[in-house]
Amino acid sequence: MDLRAAKAQLRAEMKARRAELSPAAHEQQAAQAAHVLGALPQWVDAQVVCLYASFKHELGTHLLLQRALGEGKILLLPRTRPDGTLSLHEVSDLSSLTSSHLGILEPSPSAPARPATAVDVFLVPGLAFDPSGHRLGYGAGFYDRLLTQAKPTAFSVGYGFDFQVHPEVPVEAHDQALTAIVTPTGLVPKVSR
Ligand SMILES: Nc1ncnc2c1ncn2[C@@H]1O[C@H](COP(=O)(O)OP(=O)(O)OP(=O)(O)O)[C@@H](O)[C@H]1O
Ligand SMILES: [Mg+2]
Repeated sequence: MDLRAAKAQLRAEMKARRAELSPAAHEQQAAQAAHVLGALPQWVDAQVVCLYASFKHELGTHLLLQRALGEGKILLLPRTRPDGTLSLHEVSDLSSLTSSHLGILEPSPSAPARPATAVDVFLVPGLAFDPSGHRLGYGAGFYDRLLTQAKPTAFSVGYGFDFQVHPEVPVEAHDQALTAIVTPTGLVPKVSR
C-alpha cells in the first residue's frame, strides 16, 4: 500500500474509534489530559501557548483554553487561510470566538496576529501519533506548514486519546515531527525511529 493510502486508512479508522466514545468518557478524558499537560514543566514555564478549539469527536481542549487564560498565559488560536496556512491570533475572551466554515471556533481576524516564532508551546491536533513524534493530521498540511515556522526551542505536543497512539504512523518528507505526545493517561515516552 502506498503512503497516501496508508494515511487515508488510518485516518478513517481513528475517526471511527473516536466517534464510539460516550460523552461521559469524552468529558472525563479531556479533564485528565488537561491535568497531564498542565503539570508539565514546559507548560508551566510557557508564556505564549498556541492551542486550538476542539471540534466534533476530538479530545476536548476547552478546559485547557480556560486554564491558559486563568494562568495568565498569552493564548493564541489559529485561523485557517485559503492558501493553506494558519494565522495565529491573541485571544483574551473565549466568548469572542466564532465558528469557521469548517465548524471550528476561531478568533476574529481583527484579533492581534502574532508570529509562530513567539510560541513556546504548540498544541497540535491529529488523528494518530506515534512514540517518535510522528503525526497524522486531517490531510491539508496546515500544521506541517505552521511548525516549520516554530522556534527551535518550541515544545510541540500532539494531543489525543490513548488509542490514537499508533506504533508507526506513515510519514512523508514534509511531515513535521512533534516534541511530545500527551494522552489522558500521560506523556507518551519518546522513542527515536
Ligand atoms: N511545508 C509545506 N509546504 C508545502 N506543502 C506542504 C507542506 N507541508 C505539507 N504540505 C502539503 O500538504 C498536503 C497534506 O499533507 P499531510 O497529508 O501531511 O496532511 P496532515 O499533516 O494530515 O494535515 P494537517 O496538518 O492539516 O492536519 C500534502 O499534499 C503536502 O504536500
Ligand atoms: Mg502531515
